[in-house]
Amino acid sequence: MNIKKIIYRTIENIFKSIKTKKKYNYKIHQNNKFSDYQINGIIEIIKKEKLHPKYIFKKIKNKFKKKKIFKKIKITPPGFINIFIKKKKIGKIIDKYVKIKNFGIKEKKKNIVIDYSSPNVAKEMHIGHLRSTILGDSIGNILEFLGHKVIRINHLGDWGTQFGMIIAWIKKYKKKKINNINTIENIYKKAQKKFLINTKFANLSRKYVVQLQKKKKKIIKIWKKIIKLTIKKNEKIYKILNIKLTKKNIIGESFYQKFLPSIVEDLVKKKIAYIKNKTVLVKTKNKNKQYILIIKKKDGGFLYSTTEIASIKYRYKKFKTNKIIYLVDTRQKLYLYQIFSIVKKAKYISKKTKLIHYDFGTILNKFGKPFKTREGKNIKLKKIIKKTILATKKIISFKKGNIYNEKKINKISYEIAISAIKYYDLSKNRIKNYIFDIKKMLSLKDNTGPYMQYAYTRIISVLKKNNTNIKESIKKNKLKISNQIEFNICKEITNLEEIIKLSSQGNPHIICHYLYKITSLFSKFYETNRIKNIKNKKIKNSKLKLISIIAKIIKICLSLLGIKVLNKM
Ligand code: ARG
Repeated sequence: MNIKKIIYRTIENIFKSIKTKKKYNYKIHQNNKFSDYQINGIIEIIKKEKLHPKYIFKKIKNKFKKKKIFKKIKITPPGFINIFIKKKKIGKIIDKYVKIKNFGIKEKKKNIVIDYSSPNVAKEMHIGHLRSTILGDSIGNILEFLGHKVIRINHLGDWGTQFGMIIAWIKKYKKKKINNINTIENIYKKAQKKFLINTKFANLSRKYVVQLQKKKKKIIKIWKKIIKLTIKKNEKIYKILNIKLTKKNIIGESFYQKFLPSIVEDLVKKKIAYIKNKTVLVKTKNKNKQYILIIKKKDGGFLYSTTEIASIKYRYKKFKTNKIIYLVDTRQKLYLYQIFSIVKKAKYISKKTKLIHYDFGTILNKFGKPFKTREGKNIKLKKIIKKTILATKKIISFKKGNIYNEKKINKISYEIAISAIKYYDLSKNRIKNYIFDIKKMLSLKDNTGPYMQYAYTRIISVLKKNNTNIKESIKKNKLKISNQIEFNICKEITNLEEIIKLSSQGNPHIICHYLYKITSLFSKFYETNRIKNIKNKKIKNSKLKLISIIAKIIKICLSLLGIKVLNKM
């Protein structure tokens, strides 16, 4: 259903037919002012390749004339190519594709691992985990939609010296009741402080780390309990946020411990790593600068980095993966770069396997500073979710207080608040920081989750008033485009494939941008087309179909963002 693709192919074939196999850089823009599509950059290619302009343009003209979908092609000097398409034809194309599963959009299937969320044990999830969790889940959805096998992995931070401290504290102060994560988090905080100032306690902690490594039964039991409590809490958050991660997706850092000695040995043998003062190090280069990464400490301990290397080797083998995607914040950019180059050098993955780090910016408070509590701690996710739900509830109670009962208001507030948080995050350019602004998130005018929900419910209600629904009107009716706005909507609909494919490369905000465009077009359409009053049945049904397709697209796109639609607001 991708008209730009038809245009690209036509142009490509022309270049192929004259001589060259090169991939040229020219752009096709959808245009609503002077034509339907515009091709830019052809004249530059003609000049560069010393081709004959008249000859090429004539060829282009002829080729486009032959295709039934194009009505007219106008080339104005020095080389503006304007393409006009047939209104009737575009309706037919859409009629055909909306019947096919996912509008016929798919890619060649690949196995793709995606590493996201990955919080640490003994702590509740905080604001720093929000972006990785939401972005990762959405990118996973998009890739799945395109037909890939997506393996979602939660690289849980369930190993490390912190357990020594926590266990030392529990043992020393005979803490028996560790039934919730808050108790553990408090113990962790206190133990961390004591560890720094008290050598005796520090030694005790180290002793427990060793015991944990040696799999001492009693110690393992406490460790497992701490993990279990953390996971339970995280799962609650995932459920609230409608995130697809469950226990099954966890392959934590602890899992790889058994592989670490042989990995370090192998890297030394391959001369990728070297030993200095009993420490094992790896040198990597980036833009002529040299960086050093430790993979084994003097005392024999392994690190986060060693685990990382092992995890890639494991994932490649186990999942026959073509791609591993990381959603980890920008601060770990250099670190992951180092890891990727080590793994490639050691040939732990095939040459074709891609390792991709999608980094992202920070969430800021209203003063533009990193979001922290007064004590400088990270704000818990639970807390900001609650705050957003409360703010939503205030608005909804005010508007709907005498129509809906308390229970209904609670339910809607919750759904809208979650969609607002997720949509706001996903609508921002991934790389940039953004301010967590609840008021803006909840706006019913801008590119927000609630606005999309509202547009969707509006369509549902129009369909209902006309005694139909999305499924029925798509199935039964035919598109018969009767004005310019409908035509523009149709052109936008045919962009869906390109949008979804582009967004799958780590950019869900492209979907949000698209949604905003198409819902804005719908609003315009709605203002000028009173469907109920239309006498001509075919035209009326076509309009109902058109808005049904818009609703279907909203629903699909929101589901790719991990947001459920409401039927009523
Ligand atoms: N647990 C880490 C942290 O909270 C994030 C892990 C990200 N994933 C990875 N494979 N390194 O900083």
